[in-house]
Amino acid sequence: MSQYHIQSLEAYFKVYRESVNRPEEFWSGIAQDHFLWHKKWDRVLAWDFEKPEVRWFEGAKLNITENCIDRHLSTKADETAILFVPNDPNGEAEKISYRNLHERVCRFANVLKNHGIKKGDRVIIYLPMIPELAVSVLACARIGAIHSVVFAGFSATALSTRINDCDAKMVITSDGSYRGSKTIDLKGIVDQALDDCPAVQSVLVAQRIHSDIHMQEGRDHWLAPELAAASSSCEPEIMDAEDPLFILYTSGSTGKPKGMLHSTAGYMVYTAYTFKNCFQYEEGDIYWCTADIGWITGHSYIVYGPLANGATTLMYEGVPSHPDCSRFWQIVEEHKVNQFYTAPTAIRALAKESLDFVNKHDLSSLKVLGSVGEPINEEAWHWYNDHIGKKNTPIIDSWWQTETGGILISPIPYVTPTKPTFATLPMPGIQPALMDENGQEIHGNQVQGRLCIKYPWPSIARTIWGDHLRYKDTYFSAFAGKYFTGDGALRDETGYYRITGRVDDVIIVSGHNLGTAPIEDAINAHPQVAESAIVGYPHDIKGNALYGYVTLKSPVENQENLCREINQLISQQIGPIAKLDKIQITQGLPKTRSGKIMRRILRKIASNETDNLGDISTLLDPEVVKSIMDEALV
Ligand code: PRX
Repeated sequence: MSQYHIQSLEAYFKVYRESVNRPEEFWSGIAQDHFLWHKKWDRVLAWDFEKPEVRWFEGAKLNITENCIDRHLSTKADETAILFVPNDPNGEAEKISYRNLHERVCRFANVLKNHGIKKGDRVIIYLPMIPELAVSVLACARIGAIHSVVFAGFSATALSTRINDCDAKMVITSDGSYRGSKTIDLKGIVDQALDDCPAVQSVLVAQRIHSDIHMQEGRDHWLAPELAAASSSCEPEIMDAEDPLFILYTSGSTGKPKGMLHSTAGYMVYTAYTFKNCFQYEEGDIYWCTADIGWITGHSYIVYGPLANGATTLMYEGVPSHPDCSRFWQIVEEHKVNQFYTAPTAIRALAKESLDFVNKHDLSSLKVLGSVGEPINEEAWHWYNDHIGKKNTPIIDSWWQTETGGILISPIPYVTPTKPTFATLPMPGIQPALMDENGQEIHGNQVQGRLCIKYPWPSIARTIWGDHLRYKDTYFSAFAGKYFTGDGALRDETGYYRITGRVDDVIIVSGHNLGTAPIEDAINAHPQVAESAIVGYPHDIKGNALYGYVTLKSPVENQENLCREINQLISQQIGPIAKLDKIQITQGLPKTRSGKIMRRILRKIASNETDNLGDISTLLDPEVVKSIMDEALV
């Protein structure tokens, strides 16, 4: 019997029990009945969290784009696969049918081949939220090339670091992008990045804003004429289950971003299964996730998960505030959106605006509301529930990570009773554990600890590209035999989970994961800076904002200028998303005798919680704390 679609709480508990008691039977049952395989697997799962090594559906042969596109052609060729809504509020939405998507992906795949891209080659995609982004992702998967999408808000330095880290041969970009009323010169950023990337042989350029850009002879090629000349059929490359599908970079606690590598079959099965259940998607529904495809949310729940289910997935190019703060709700009304998935930072920003923006639109099509990316605070949850969901639309607070590939803890709408700020229960196959500081599992309810997962699930990232040791150190060394998420969580009296936030040096700002180390590296590159430490502090809209403490080699006259220069450096090295909201030039940083900066104290000062600083006796110079508190902010 298929357990693909869970429709009652009783069924959930039954399926969950089975998935834990007999994980291999459970996942092979799901995989067997709902996907297209050229050959079935010889073995469902091989794993060892000590090495660490995880392999799902070994021996199976498939192509993910056949599962996302071709197999729907006999039943829904003319139905909309991607509904593209442009930035321009007067622009027309474009319906891309499954037939048309198939043709576009095949043409694009042939263009890639014409440029010598083969199975296993890495291709960097640096595009705005336009159809070419989804199509290029799928075109890579069609021929077995490994895509690595870089969010088109990252700087030239961040882009070149990623291109070089995965040794990409090709970059796909556009002349520029629209962002609300502004345009961004993406090709200019790519040109700058490529000064440091000798291995890149070709750049494909989509035309979006029709700006006057530089095209380098022999390297840069306009996409449109090549697509027009390419054949509209392309046989899919038959992939092994564990062949790499994509690399997606995420911040870590050291300077270099981590290229999380996801493989093919397990990722497909898990994202498809969780999409169906977490959104209760029904034939004919219009589903909209507002994330950018440059993040994992977009990979799994704009592209692969929805398309594997034959869904209609809406892709929006713009921002929530253009031309005004009713844009999201106008799109929901116009396109009769049924499932809407967004981030708490967007909810908080829109909740600050007049309710007229919401109330002038008919939101009655909505059946499910989703939240992802950071803990959703109680106030935002209630605003979302009351004003968008009209108190009768379940909110799924879905917890997961770039590394997990898909949603791990989330209510199933109309199945799991929700509770504000709680991600509630694990998805089938997910075995969470809360750990104490001594590495012991904390059993029972009403407890709090560090969140680990005890058993592999199909879409866990397989490694960090080029650095397996770092993968092991980061995720599998803190707690022996378990995957450590880097998050803290509590389990309430009924077994519901609430994610309390990061317990490492990653800060989530407006839903973006930012490591403190890369930002500190950028600041320390300033010739006058001796040392710096970044912490997060609570912010009404962003969730967390960044506070930088900076010590100087010698005093400077104009501190304001210095702070501006520091933020410019951060923008150049990482991107504007990592700019500091507050900078304090300080005499010293609180350090332990072994020289480690005590960020806990800096966090408290930044958050104005100076009544209880905790134990500061282990500091080398406890006096420094008082001087930091006395100093004025710039
Ligand atoms: O701290 C958790 C937070 O976002 C982190 C993962 O970030 P990233 O890899 O960028 O992926 C974001 C989209 C999946 C997690 O370690 N996070 C994500 N969702 C939630 C969350 N924190 C609390 N509640 C959530 N629903």
